Amino acid sequence: MQKDVAALSPEEATEELAQLAAALARANTAYHTQDAPEISDAEYDALKRRNKAIEERFPALKREDSPTEQVGGAVAEGFQKIRHSTPMLSLGNAFDDTDVAEFDQSIRKYLGVSDGQVLDYTAEPKIDGLSLSLRYEEGALMHAATRGDGQTGENVTQNARTIADIPQTLSGAPDILEVRGEVYMSHADFADLNLRQAADDNKTFANPRNAAAGSLRQLDASVTAGRPLRFFAYAWGSVSAPLGGTQFAAIARLAELGFQTNPLTQLCNGPGEMIAHYAKIEEQRAGLGYDIDGVVYKVNDLALQARLGFRSTTPRWAIAHKFAAELAWTRLEGIDIQVGRTGALSPVARLQPVTVGGVVVSNATLHNEDYVAGRDSNGNPIRDGKDIRPGDWVQVYRAGDVIPKVADVDLTKRPEDAAPYVFPELCPECGSVAVREEGDAVRRCTGGLICPAQAVEKLKHFVSRAAFDIEGLGAKQIEQFFSDGWVREPADIFTLRDRYGSGGIQQLQNREGWGQKSAENLFDAIDDKRTIEFRRFLFGLGIRHLGDGSSKDLSRAFGTWEALTAAADLAIAEPAFQELTKVTLKVSPAWEEFLNIDGIGLTLTQSLLAALANPQERASIDRLVAHLTILAPEEQAADSPVAGKTVVFTGSLERMTRAEAKARAEALGAKVSGSVSAKTDLLVAGPGAGSKAKKAANLGIETIDEDAWLSMIEGL
Ligand code: IVH
Repeated sequence: MQKDVAALSPEEATEELAQLAAALARANTAYHTQDAPEISDAEYDALKRRNKAIEERFPALKREDSPTEQVGGAVAEGFQKIRHSTPMLSLGNAFDDTDVAEFDQSIRKYLGVSDGQVLDYTAEPKIDGLSLSLRYEEGALMHAATRGDGQTGENVTQNARTIADIPQTLSGAPDILEVRGEVYMSHADFADLNLRQAADDNKTFANPRNAAAGSLRQLDASVTAGRPLRFFAYAWGSVSAPLGGTQFAAIARLAELGFQTNPLTQLCNGPGEMIAHYAKIEEQRAGLGYDIDGVVYKVNDLALQARLGFRSTTPRWAIAHKFAAELAWTRLEGIDIQVGRTGALSPVARLQPVTVGGVVVSNATLHNEDYVAGRDSNGNPIRDGKDIRPGDWVQVYRAGDVIPKVADVDLTKRPEDAAPYVFPELCPECGSVAVREEGDAVRRCTGGLICPAQAVEKLKHFVSRAAFDIEGLGAKQIEQFFSDGWVREPADIFTLRDRYGSGGIQQLQNREGWGQKSAENLFDAIDDKRTIEFRRFLFGLGIRHLGDGSSKDLSRAFGTWEALTAAADLAIAEPAFQELTKVTLKVSPAWEEFLNIDGIGLTLTQSLLAALANPQERASIDRLVAHLTILAPEEQAADSPVAGKTVVFTGSLERMTRAEAKARAEALGAKVSGSVSAKTDLLVAGPGAGSKAKKAANLGIETIDEDAWLSMIEGL
């Protein structure tokens, strides 16, 4: 029986932290470097949580090699890195037929395809292995790289050369050809390999995917050579000449060049046929002899694929339709409440550990208060209105890599003394009242900056990768600095050197985990970020609803923090401001400065203005700004004639939809606005253009038609 953290003596804590560090280090190596997990994800999480709890109770005992915030999955030491010339993307997921229909709909909408016309898609199995990019130049295999983080992977060329399915030379291929596909191991080969491994007293693998990954990522290629790996080609990166006009033809071309392509790849006309092919593949799944975890659909016409393009990490033209989630039943031991950056109180199920589809799960999300009570956000019953109580027998659901959820509850197994869960109305972290605003599914702590949980989460967000990204200052250090009272708000980070630096550097060094070098490095890294891009600064503020994308939109629209706050102060000064923040849809001209920015809506505007109108929050931001030089957004894509220009589309467009026009214009560095003003540089007016065209004419703004727009951006 584990002792309660509160009851540990410092000696016991020291000993346990050492044990935990060793256990987690072993688990990390097994998982990431040897691809042979020794413990389940849930056990791993439990060890990490315990370690964190002890560290929080005894901050001074935190080890130099504390596992709290170490992240796995980095490029393993020993392999050279290769930067992918075209990023290796991942896929969005569909979980049911409705998602598939929506995928088709969103594509049709984006492209403006009429209802009568049905689009063609390819459908093929999603192989459960690891992806690999093979670069051929003039027909010779030059290098092979794993996916890594999508931008940079590991150079596994020597290992890839040992795989029989991967040709060393190609004849008749484009001069430059990057072939992408999946390395996998068949069930039979996996079983044989594990028998051999066991007989030789070597480690065995948990599943074929791990075996494939572990075999490919061997520093000694002769080990890979002894492993039965296979490869299916299903995509490509850079090519000097197109492989075909359609996805289907391109895959056929890869097969002609000597690659294995999946025989279950089929052309489907519309979602009905896609779903039918999915059912067929699912039926054959058990007999295929290798693991698949879904079906991938891709728009067949490559010209359409090019028009559809990409979101940040996934293509618009493809999606993975996952096989049904795995389910299991277990006991709900308790409900914990986590408090997030914006004060949201989230219920988390503490479960008796249970295996769900091969993974041990001991925590699952319970979404929000209503979900626990058995109703949706409109008050309608879900699960037939059954609530969830500690002690209940609950169904846990896990789909792919998605966070496990509690899906259902078995009332026949409910203990007699199980009491309905009472959602806290006070923040468990700071004791402030937690309120639920009308129309919000979430109850939030009102403690704002006085709530330690919110303050810490805000600080962690502030230093996170898309925000200030300060090297050496991660979540772990933030927790340490916060619990010792060194850093309470972002501005404090920038006074650390003055308060504890030169002369006082000793102080930092005396602390667990800091030496002279690391302290100096930290101060330098902080200094580096005294000059920061506007969008990163905005995102770093951690204002609710202000994501990375909207930070970019705002930074581009206003250019400077001064311009943004000037506009905000005008809106805040309006007498109706208090009313407007209470979910009325009336808007005033001062608000339109924000609402006219494409991508910025009322919810975000309200949240942003509310934050800037709050005296404490504003003062905290002002203290931060005093330390910074905020850079105006770069005029990107400088070689495009529309870079940095504000463009408005009006009237009907005939050769593309608004969504496509906007995405293209933005990709070329333009700002797209919804209304014409003196700041507009260009109006693209289709037939039926009305008041906006008139206004543009009055203001003397250049106005062109769709054809002129297309020829302006042609070839870019
Ligand atoms: S297409 C731009 N097709 O799934 C899209 N991916 O979840 C490129 N995968 O990283 C991927 N089978 O490793 C594609 N038939 C298939 C696939 C497949 C497996 C993997 C691939 C990718 C991951 C995305």
